[in-house]
Amino acid sequence: MEAALPPGPGGGPLVSLGWMFRPLPLLERARARYGDTFTLRIAQEPPWVVLGDPEDVRAVFQGDPSVLHAGEGNQILAPILGHHSVLLLDDDRHLRQRKLMLPPFHGERMQRHVETMAEAAREEIAKWPEDQPFALHPHMQDVTLEVIMRVVFGETDAERSRTLRDGIKRFLEFGADPKVFMGIALLGGERMRRLRFWREAMEPVDEAIFALIARRRAEPGLDARDDVLSMLVQARDEDGAPLSDQELRDELMTLLVAGHETTATALAWALERLVRNPDMLERLASGDEDYLDAVVTETLRRRPVLPLVLRKLTEPWELNGRLLPAGVAVSPNIHLVHHNPELYPDPFAFRPERFLRVKPGTYEWIPFGGGTRRCIGASFALTEMKTVLREVVRAVALRPASPAPERVTRRAITWTPSAGATVVAARAA
Ligand code: HEM
Repeated sequence: MEAALPPGPGGGPLVSLGWMFRPLPLLERARARYGDTFTLRIAQEPPWVVLGDPEDVRAVFQGDPSVLHAGEGNQILAPILGHHSVLLLDDDRHLRQRKLMLPPFHGERMQRHVETMAEAAREEIAKWPEDQPFALHPHMQDVTLEVIMRVVFGETDAERSRTLRDGIKRFLEFGADPKVFMGIALLGGERMRRLRFWREAMEPVDEAIFALIARRRAEPGLDARDDVLSMLVQARDEDGAPLSDQELRDELMTLLVAGHETTATALAWALERLVRNPDMLERLASGDEDYLDAVVTETLRRRPVLPLVLRKLTEPWELNGRLLPAGVAVSPNIHLVHHNPELYPDPFAFRPERFLRVKPGTYEWIPFGGGTRRCIGASFALTEMKTVLREVVRAVALRPASPAPERVTRRAITWTPSAGATVVAARAA
């Protein structure tokens, strides 16, 4: 069998621009014309074979990770995350790192952090203005950053916590600047790292994180602590080896970058949807926990924060009777799977009820990707979303600043509400 790509809208600047500025209509038009599988060519990227059929998604997530590389495509993040980051590795090194990192993120363990998450949410909600429009998204960023500080870094000392948080905030702003990624693409990571503006943003954070690691290593009674860093410091691989300081630093950065903006955006979307559906808000406020679950599931279906995942083929790979060439990327498309009318009737409607009695299928609801690369923080994110939403509906009555739904816009790689989920709040009596 000769390797070939499925047909698709082809390449050219119009497709690349469409992908940049109007990605959803581009995907929907391509599906209407070519069906669930098509090839998309965007700028300098290798061709993407876009997959909207859950059976193809299953084949990718269950496929051989040494043929389906995920880390390779993330190399642009290496100067920030470091070369040990689980996000950037493939094969044996990826598996080692992932195994070391999974235990602190286990679903049951997350229950221990609910009160810490609720407290961070309450402190943040107390700062919200009343009776005037404001965007929720930045406030959700503050909550998710604070939660990472307490649950992942385990930093409780107020002064040190403030220094670390301020450094991280500056670094995150720097990381969200498109010029930074343009610079890495043009100059290469090593040269960028030597530039002064880079060192000024990165060095204080690195110093603070290495100091935190040193303090934690020296602390007695670590096994009594619940935070993720304390568990990572104690973790051992199959040969009994611990994570080095540099590995710990790289994984803390990875957790920060992977877990902060994603969860903040998902929360912003949940509230953007809910304030336009007062009956849903009311049902949540009544304390209906099954409904809260369904709201979170439906939010991540209707408004996935990341629209796709990618696996680059290290050798030709057969999918559904077609041999795909090495070097291309296969791309389970989260948006297309989640808006397939055969899986989800009336797919563009926001309707939490659809998940009240039915749990979503493993390959039909994929906001966290899948297989050996599935999001390590999925339980963390779901627990945090539910906890924060519970606190919000308890403390404030929210209405939208404008009745029109907010559009999906791109912010670096996440798809976010165009006005940052702008609302007006009134304190509950
Ligand atoms: C709603 C919030 C979140 C969403 C939508 C999300 C989504 C994703 C997706 C789509 C992937 C790629 C999966 C794949 O390629 O198959 C991923 C990977 C990852 N996520 Fe999340 N994530 C979220 C929150 C978090 C949190 C809170 C953390 C940690 C604190 C986290 C840590 C990671 C890590 C470490 C990976 C890399 C896993 C690997 O390569 O083995 N994420 N996430």
